[in-house]
Amino acid sequence: MSTTDETDTSPAPVTGRLEAELERLLAVESFDPPAGFTRRHPVENDVAAAAADPVTFWADKARELLNWDRPFTTVLNDANPPFYKWFEDGELNLSANCLDRHVAAGRGDRVAFHWAGEEGERRVITYAGLLDETQRLANGLRSLGVGKGDVVGIFLPMIPQVAAAMLACARIGAVHNVVFGGFAPSAVRERMEVSDAKVLITVDGARRKGRTAPVKAAVDAEMGDLKSLERILVVEAVGAAGLGGERAPMTPGRDVWYEELVAAADPVCPPEPMPAEAPLFILYSSGSTAKPKGILHTTAGYLLGVTYTYRTVFDIDPATDIYWCSADVGWITGHSYIIYGPLSNGATSVMYEGAPDYPDFDAWWKLIDEYKVTVFYTAPTAIRSCMKWGAEYPDRHDLSSLRLLGSVGEPINPKAWLWYQQVIGGGRCPVVDTWWQTETGAIMISPVPGVTSTKPGSATKPLPGFSPALLTEQGQPLSEGVGVLVVTQPWPSMLRTLYKDDDRFVETYFSRFGPTTYLVGDAARLDADGYFWIIGRIDDVINVSGHRLSTAEVESAIVAHEAVAESAVVAQADEQTGQAIVAFVTLTGGRVGDDAMVAELRDHVAARIGKLARPKRIIWADDLPKTRSGKIMRRLLRDVAEGRALGDVTTLRDPAVMAALASKVAEAD
Ligand code: WTA
Repeated sequence: MSTTDETDTSPAPVTGRLEAELERLLAVESFDPPAGFTRRHPVENDVAAAAADPVTFWADKARELLNWDRPFTTVLNDANPPFYKWFEDGELNLSANCLDRHVAAGRGDRVAFHWAGEEGERRVITYAGLLDETQRLANGLRSLGVGKGDVVGIFLPMIPQVAAAMLACARIGAVHNVVFGGFAPSAVRERMEVSDAKVLITVDGARRKGRTAPVKAAVDAEMGDLKSLERILVVEAVGAAGLGGERAPMTPGRDVWYEELVAAADPVCPPEPMPAEAPLFILYSSGSTAKPKGILHTTAGYLLGVTYTYRTVFDIDPATDIYWCSADVGWITGHSYIIYGPLSNGATSVMYEGAPDYPDFDAWWKLIDEYKVTVFYTAPTAIRSCMKWGAEYPDRHDLSSLRLLGSVGEPINPKAWLWYQQVIGGGRCPVVDTWWQTETGAIMISPVPGVTSTKPGSATKPLPGFSPALLTEQGQPLSEGVGVLVVTQPWPSMLRTLYKDDDRFVETYFSRFGPTTYLVGDAARLDADGYFWIIGRIDDVINVSGHRLSTAEVESAIVAHEAVAESAVVAQADEQTGQAIVAFVTLTGGRVGDDAMVAELRDHVAARIGKLARPKRIIWADDLPKTRSGKIMRRLLRDVAEGRALGDVTTLRDPAVMAALASKVAEAD
């Protein structure tokens, strides 16, 4: 940004000037695409083609962007909505599209990942190298008994093996089920159990900010008696030294070292031609109940969605761009925009194992400078943290290589958007606020950089081929105003079902407005220019730092504690994390909660779900506000948590409960 002003005789401190500039820019409603930004991939034809006929548009893209072992002859089978099928009689292999085709074209030496560890380690993984490791691992998995359709769990930190693990599954037609490394082993167990995973690929230990967590030992404690899980494959990432002297415990006959398996395996594993609709992966996500939803994606449609949107939204030139997505591979963003989208396009990415604030607050900016990153994709919560730490950290580094910035995961507040655009992007980079979900597989609403004018806080408009729309509560189309977000046409990368739970799939997404209208679960506003502004969830899902959590899941973890009689969990607006978890808790036998119990309950939730699910605030409640039929009124609890005047309490069984709670919260604050 321009911080030098010739006429300024008494320069204010830089931060003061930045504040003033951001305040000024907050009044700017819309930003034209920066003049210096030139698109590499034109979209005009796509926009016209998709508007004319979305199905033909996707068929053309599928032929243009993917390599098929057997070309498809039917595009969309919509005979049995909402169970859509795309490119049904076609066959391809996803790992061949991500690896072999680039190597065959003479680009085997291109870097797939520049891997950076948090202690300064560096590794370079080329396309040829990744193909080699993927083939060996694929053969290794086969030797452990993994075949087509078998589920393989993956619980790994951000190490290069995670890419090989996912691709090796795809190569042999196995279905991966990646669990975010921040989840507790008991959550991993639940996900392995409900998906009948045959093999789990994990790690001896995981590093975070200079400390090492003994992952394998913790996994053993949870997974020991799980019958369906036949083998555990262990990457030795930290070794005996990292674990305080001894290598991770291994159970003979069940556990295998990853390195040994890969070294001994046959280096050639031809890619298995897979039917377009063969399951590719399951990714568990939170819904309205305590039971996580196993979102199922299939092969060709998913690959097409991520391949097309990656090049359109990030305008990648694989020969020159260095791309970095700071998400974790355990979320959909990592699946689609760290692994499959970039690799299918033959792009070069940075993969980083560490945190943004270790060893110092400039860890990310240092990497951008070192690798000359051109396209950076992160989350609003991270941007807000960086704002809090201050512009002095990015200012220490040369960020002039950046040409495009992306955001994902939650609504981005205009101030954070502007800070990102000004401080990180130097005012010259388009900012793409990308809206999508685990269920959509690929970005659906986003500016097209260089084309769409942006409004801070708005994800702007649908990408070609996607048809999000707003409806009133009654299901009437809305062209302006606030409504319920839906998608009116099937799209190739849509979820196909919830794993082994077709009924819940239909009930969750296709019951409110019928079998052809996908219910997103978000509320949004459409402005007079047709721009979408995402407001937030309409179900009992909390979005903490862009991570989806279910109130019911957190509640059931809390009530599993022996001292707890009852609990209700709500979201409270939070400047840092977007939303924060507030738990109202009633203890058994009239026990009174204290600070020690707060700590105990927070640890208890961390052990059952993961640290990310720990309540920020616990409010002791003698009783919870319930309707006469016994339903907890969360709306009132949100009012109390956020200090608002209480709404209508007349439907409560005992209105006095609310007054008691409100006075208690006021005291505590
Ligand atoms: C929210 C993450 C506003 C939204 C890719 C959605 C967003 C949920 C945005 C999906 C955005 C995601 N602006 N809200 N740009 N991106 N969301 O499945 O509520 O982890 O329904 O997928 O995050 O979260 P999920």
